Amino acid sequence: MYTLGIETSCDETGIAVYDSQFWENNQSPHLGILGQSLYSQVKMHEEYGGVVPELASRDHVKRILPLIQSCLEESKLSISQIDNIAYTKGPGLAGALLVGSSVAKGLAFALNKKSIGIHHLEGHLLSPLLSERFQETDPKNFFPFLALLVSGGHTQIMMVKAIGDYSILGETLDDAVGEAFDKTAKLLNLPYPGGPEVSKLAQTSTTNRFKLPRPLIHSKNLDFSFAGLKTAVLTQIKQAEKEQIELDASFKADLARAFVEATVDVLQSKVEFAMRQTNCFRLVVAGGVGANIQLREKLSELTGKLPQCEILYPPTHLCTDNGVMIAFAASLRILENKQAFDTSNAFDVLPRWSLEKI
Ligand code: KG4
Ligand code: ZN
Repeated sequence: MYTLGIETSCDETGIAVYDSQFWENNQSPHLGILGQSLYSQVKMHEEYGGVVPELASRDHVKRILPLIQSCLEESKLSISQIDNIAYTKGPGLAGALLVGSSVAKGLAFALNKKSIGIHHLEGHLLSPLLSERFQETDPKNFFPFLALLVSGGHTQIMMVKAIGDYSILGETLDDAVGEAFDKTAKLLNLPYPGGPEVSKLAQTSTTNRFKLPRPLIHSKNLDFSFAGLKTAVLTQIKQAEKEQIELDASFKADLARAFVEATVDVLQSKVEFAMRQTNCFRLVVAGGVGANIQLREKLSELTGKLPQCEILYPPTHLCTDNGVMIAFAASLRILENKQAFDTSNAFDVLPRWSLEKI
């Protein structure tokens, strides 16, 4: 079964073809990725310091068909050989989602195929199953697991019992962790998207000059809060300006380091709390911030305290938004009979959609 995946929820146009036979036959699931194409709009949004929704939708319109074409060429398939057309139905920017949904439904209608709307975060949280780690072991035995979803819009810890069976154990009360990275980057005059820039800058710091708060670290629940941390960064900058301290490269690097250390400390502590509470020691880390090197190092320290814990990441190229995760999540849902195909031709999208309600 060949599934075309279309991702247009934000500022990446991602297309992929996934062949489900590798999952069905218990072979390495990553071998099912037959083709993938991606266009990132980052350069276009850079000058505005963030994603401009209207520009994003227009650009998806421009890119989507040539990307589908090149992905099919790489897959060595014609569109008529595709069985299902999956698209991101939400959450995300309404106009951007509409581009993917209308192309998917239009193609399905014209070619007499089935279309299927996928939750963006389900795509992220299943993508670690495409890791090469499952060359020898069966990914089906990896369930149940905890998932730490850390992206520009979400910070959640979930329990994943099976495909389609997700419950939120805790989430952010205000800013998402990626958002806090991006806002901190702005305060430090770093280019957009700020997450990787803050991370790189932090690595150049040589002194532990600043100590920032670790919000809710002792809260005995799985809630997060990152808005105050960003404010703490601003307070340090204002204080330095008042004292006429030069905001030079080393000042910024030290502040970036303090921000990153506070953030990853909180994430590590909440993951440990979730593992102990649920007695579930398998974790997947998904979403853009999952690419963060300091977070990966900090989480790996957990194996010292909890030797039974196992942490899994998606392949690096699948950490940020992409079409593969949408094609893959759709394939698994179809195989597990977890979702009926679309029954209406309406271009309905769900810009706000809880993962527990799928
Ligand atoms: O999952 P994603 O590609 O898009 C959604 O938000 O759905 O995540 C993007 C977020 C941005 O906030 C970006 O700054 C952050 O992930 N990010 C990172 C890193 N790479 C991407 N944050 C910290 N360190 C990174 N290496
Ligand atoms: Zn995402």
